[in-house]
Amino acid sequence: MTRWPMLPALALPALLSAAAARADAPPKPARLGLCAACHGENGAATAPGIPNLAAQNREYLVAALGQYRSGERAAQAMRAVSGSLSDADIDALAAWYAAQAGGAAR
Ligand code: HEC
Repeated sequence: MTRWPMLPALALPALLSAAAARADAPPKPARLGLCAACHGENGAATAPGIPNLAAQNREYLVAALGQYRSGERAAQAMRAVSGSLSDADIDALAAWYAAQAGGAAR
């Protein structure tokens, strides 16, 4: 009796969901360049002391950015960059970072 390897059956759903994730990926935000030096384009922080943003909850990111912008949440580095962000910029950046794959440092 031939035993069919299970691999193709297991790999297909993974391939399909990877394709779906790409299709859902938001466009690169216009202001991403403001953030990348510290948080990386993909949300992997560039130095200790800077939080990773990849795969963070989107609503959390929107709220945090609003709090830095208003000064409710105080952090010198974030105050300086968030002051010039519009609500649309914040939405776009939150959607972008939330959609990045988290996990291992890149
Ligand atoms: C100069 C470095 C620097 C730049 C540039 C920068 N950040 Fe940050 N960011 C930080 C640091 C440091 C913190 C942690 C601050 C704190 O203690 O609250 C932080 C915190 C955050 C947080 C909160 C994360 C959490 O887990 O609560 C968000 C969201 C964030 N940054 C988004 C952005 C976005 C979006 C941009 C671009 C508009 C940006 N940052 C630009 C250094 C930076």
